Amino acid sequence: MKFDMQNMAPADRYRLLVNTVTPRPIAWVVSRSENGVLNAAPYSFFNVLGSEPPICVLGIGQRAEGDPKDTARNIMATGEFTINLVREADTRTMVDTAAEAPREVSEIEALGIATRPASTVATPLIASAPAALECKLWKPVETGGNFTIILGEILALHIGDEFLTGPAERPRVDTQAMALVGRAFGAGGYIRNKDTFVEERVGWPLPDREA
Ligand SMILES: Cc1cc2nc3c(=O)[nH]c(=O)nc-3n(C[C@H](O)[C@H](O)[C@H](O)COP(=O)(O)O)c2cc1C
Repeated sequence: MKFDMQNMAPADRYRLLVNTVTPRPIAWVVSRSENGVLNAAPYSFFNVLGSEPPICVLGIGQRAEGDPKDTARNIMATGEFTINLVREADTRTMVDTAAEAPREVSEIEALGIATRPASTVATPLIASAPAALECKLWKPVETGGNFTIILGEILALHIGDEFLTGPAERPRVDTQAMALVGRAFGAGGYIRNKDTFVEERVGWPLPDREA
């Protein structure tokens, strides 16, 4: 069956897309309002898009009443944010930060989420995150619909020492040990990034696989 994206209600497009384009990494975004209220919310329209410059992307919708979400408003106001990757043990807390709390309420305070300072931005990092990105707004992209695409420049990347092995100048990242979760499918579906397999890349010409 083909679904014509151009002639479909946005809610139906959303449902089909998020149930097929999976798994998606989850950015647990911390941002700060002009008044200093710290906000936390998860975003799975998230990825990194290159390394020179190192750019990340967030797709931020609107609240049901059509207002911008706090994360978009804060990033536009302060020009900065942090992205914290989510370990399995933090899944419940991460999901709780998706509740639409009033703008003046800090999810960080209300849920007692421990933070630690970032180095290049005034917005803190989530202390328990195995890895975290310090970001500044690179470019907002208005798509004309109800989403704002935020392109951010990654200024610093934190990885817990316990997940790094080998020489300091070229460390290996023990990604599996981070026990990260991503967004899967269905209402409330998540995935552990443990079920991996290896398929090595080869050069051209391709090896003979007849034998
Ligand atoms: C795992 C997960 C992923 C989410 N991803 C997105 C997303 O990519 N874009 C979006 O607009 N909302 C997403 N949401 C919903 C927001 O987290 C939710 O609307 C939240 O209240 C926004 O908070 P804020 O207004 O403090 O930014 C997601 C929710 C969950 C639980």
